[in-house]
Amino acid sequence: MSAAGSQGPFATFCGAWGPAVEAALRDLLPPVTAAPARLHEAMHYALFPGGKRLRPMLVLLGCRAAGGDPGAALRAAAAVECLHTYSLVHDDLPCMDDDDLRRGRPTCHKVYGDALALLAGDALLTLAFEGVASAGVDAVAELARAAGSLGMVGGQVEDLAVEGDARLHSLERVQWIHDRKTGALITASLVVGARAAGGSPPAGLLELLRAYGERLGRAFQIADDCLDLTGTAVELGKNPLADVALGKLTWPAMVGLERSLGTARALADEAVALAAPITASTLAWRGEPGPALDATRRLLQDAARYAVERRR
Ligand code: IPE
Ligand code: IPE
Ligand code: MG
Ligand code: MG
Ligand code: MG
Repeated sequence: MSAAGSQGPFATFCGAWGPAVEAALRDLLPPVTAAPARLHEAMHYALFPGGKRLRPMLVLLGCRAAGGDPGAALRAAAAVECLHTYSLVHDDLPCMDDDDLRRGRPTCHKVYGDALALLAGDALLTLAFEGVASAGVDAVAELARAAGSLGMVGGQVEDLAVEGDARLHSLERVQWIHDRKTGALITASLVVGARAAGGSPPAGLLELLRAYGERLGRAFQIADDCLDLTGTAVELGKNPLADVALGKLTWPAMVGLERSLGTARALADEAVALAAPITASTLAWRGEPGPALDATRRLLQDAARYAVERRR
């Protein structure tokens, strides 16, 4: 599995680090045979073979952007993927988006029932904190804030609250929701990675990574909203037109597909423009040699473009 869409530098990076991320996930997860086996089976079912693995790759990229060896961030990367996967398992439950297809297979609750899917999600969430502890206490706090009521969970609450009621729909509100339900974890992935690099990243570097993550997160969720309209079940591994059926507040529901994609591309451009300041900040801090930072800058740029141009 990789975030590869076309063979740009980010796709190559994902291809190179993919096997190590899978190994880190298997290392973090209890074996399926551990009691209660049915719970661990459900956790494995949700995680493997998995999706694009974008967030763990952003953890590794954040580590590299802060001058570290991505290998140092593998356990934290696996942790963030566990947290993301928990959010998908819960997002698909009948009481939330009520979806029956995820990552090309029946959703976790369709196979294991609602109660076990709920608990498998809980277990993945708590496991994430065991894993991210490897990146230090600041990384733990970062992930907790991003995933909680002021971040992802808060965004999910509002996403559900305005579902099916067009009177509550506005561009301002959809951006507020996207920043929390999706952007918060994407930004935290980069910052957790930077923390895993070691040392104490300067505040200026963390701010730049956050600004980059915010743009990438917005672009990524707008693309997700657009793919709901333009993608197929085979491409997406989930049912298209699910947002339409539920009357979700999405970017294309507000302004149409073309303007949505234009906004997503403009956000990706803003993220691209932040790549050079990020590597310059790392250079000023660490005094890293040029070529590695040039390649990192290109990776950051390509990851931002990938968030929009992807087909899955
Ligand atoms: C789906 O995320 C949920 C959103 C925040 C849009 P992904 O599109 O990254 O899903 P996977 O991990 O590839 O399955
Ligand atoms: C989900 O957003 C965001 C989280 C899981 C936190 P969506 O509901 O749009 O994600 P998909 O389209 O089901 O993957
Ligand atoms: Mg949802
Ligand atoms: Mg959903
Ligand atoms: Mg969606």
